[in-house]
Amino acid sequence: MKKVLITGASSGIGESLAYKFASEGFSLVIVARRKDSLLVLKNKLETKYRVSVEIESLDLSNIENLDFLISKYSNLDILINNAGFGVFNKFNDYDIKKDLEMINLNVGTVVYLTKGFSKIMKKGSTIINIASTAGFQPTPYMAVYGGTKSFIIDFTLAVQNEVKDVNINLYCPGETRTEFQSVAKRPKSSALRGKIPTAAEVANDIYKNLNKKIAIYGIYNKFLIFITKFFSKSFISKILYKIQS
Ligand SMILES: NC(=O)c1ccc[n+]([C@@H]2O[C@H](COP(=O)([O-])OP(=O)(O)OC[C@H]3O[C@@H](n4cnc5c(N)ncnc54)[C@H](OP(=O)(O)O)[C@@H]3O)[C@@H](O)[C@H]2O)c1
Repeated sequence: MKKVLITGASSGIGESLAYKFASEGFSLVIVARRKDSLLVLKNKLETKYRVSVEIESLDLSNIENLDFLISKYSNLDILINNAGFGVFNKFNDYDIKKDLEMINLNVGTVVYLTKGFSKIMKKGSTIINIASTAGFQPTPYMAVYGGTKSFIIDFTLAVQNEVKDVNINLYCPGETRTEFQSVAKRPKSSALRGKIPTAAEVANDIYKNLNKKIAIYGIYNKFLIFITKFFSKSFISKILYKIQS
């Protein structure tokens, strides 16, 4: 039975990924801070799909917890670095500690787990780093979040050429209906604009694209990223600032 470890599996895309992989017969390790949510998910998955589910209730911003995961799970077939969060606010209107927390989890943890696991995972196994379409251009009002995802895009596309034995792939969701918006304190009006996919739709697409070096959710996001290439980043930033304001 193949084994997948999913970070940030207590809600949203990570939880839907857990359902998808369980339905495909994988055994799972699900990681997040909220133990109750992980326990409920474990029971549901084990009952419905008859797979083995291990839970790790850990704060992934703590390096000791990352070392613990790396030493305990050397036998993974797939690692999905999915845990992350954003802040929607004017840069100077919230505490710098939130920025550091975000950089630590969205960047530091992903780099740490990518390095730690890519050294010990077996040949042909796969790491998928979840970035965001927000990483392809500057994102006023989510400046630090966009920066962290921009880092993950360039970082992943760089190391995937260096590391040969383990596939290191990039997946970029666009806006998705999860707890992300409420955690980021993003106004609802923007989150409800247009047809926003569910976490299950995004998780299915991640599964479909497991072997792609880079994948982006949906034709609409791909089109937006394509047209931004024809404008300067500072111009895009000005336009997005007006829209977000
Ligand atoms: N939703 C979107 O619109 C969107 C768009 C593009 C990219 N993404 C990316 O997709 C990924 C998943 O986000 P989501 O939309 O599914 O959001 P979500 O529903 O808020 O899920 C985030 C997950 O990360 C976990 N997490 C947060 N801080 C953690 C920490 N310190 N230690 C361990 N786990 C932690 C949360 O669990 P606990 O709170 O239990 O720890 C939760 O399971 C993120 O990387 C996000 O940046 C989301």
